[in-house]
Amino acid sequence: ASETLIADALLDWFSRHKRDLPWRETYSPYHVWISEIMLQQTQMERGVEYFRRWIARFPDVSSLAQAPQDEVLKLWEGLGYYSRARNLHKAAQMVMERHGGTLPPSMEALLALPGIGPYTARAIASIAFGQDVCVVDANVERLVSRLYNIEQPVKSRQAQKEISEYGQRLLPKGHARDFNQALMEFGSLVCTPRNPSCPRCTLAHWCRAREAGVQEERPVVAKA
Ligand code: ADE
Repeated sequence: ASETLIADALLDWFSRHKRDLPWRETYSPYHVWISEIMLQQTQMERGVEYFRRWIARFPDVSSLAQAPQDEVLKLWEGLGYYSRARNLHKAAQMVMERHGGTLPPSMEALLALPGIGPYTARAIASIAFGQDVCVVDANVERLVSRLYNIEQPVKSRQAQKEISEYGQRLLPKGHARDFNQALMEFGSLVCTPRNPSCPRCTLAHWCRAREAGVQEERPVVAKA
């Protein structure tokens, strides 16, 4: 079926074009966690810079848990949304107490940690632990909305349900780590919000929005 061909094309693209990012060296759950929190509301380049500094000072859950809060906030300075840093600190202490210093693989246990919501739990479960759950961020919303020409407003319940169903259907079992990152990376580098690179897009053949000539009008944003 076309799902398999689309997934293969994305995985192939990712193997050739993935960015060299520091947390992709080992995919340690701690590194994946820190990167996913930092990248929320933060551009990739800036996120990488802060990630390197953070890991140099707090190389593992234990060092973060033991740090004084003012030092944690100091390293976050400039990123904004300081609750993210306070939650990381608190969650690190809980991971020491409840899980012996290693992030838990179960979605339920991840969701019980402060600052970890459905997006982050799914990202950690799949990217660090290889579980077959799909991850939907704004890049994935856009790519899937175009591929399947979803006409409902992207934040509507109906569209969100369709996007996660398509995402889960596309996900090749056993390849969630690379597949989820491929979706996000492809969305941010090829299937861009403005002037998407359709002429060099390896998925163009399957793209229903492109077929209808409405790729720039997807995803649909609800009027205020
Ligand atoms: N954006 C957020 N997390 C990402 C990841 N793991 N790969 C690419 N883009 C991302």
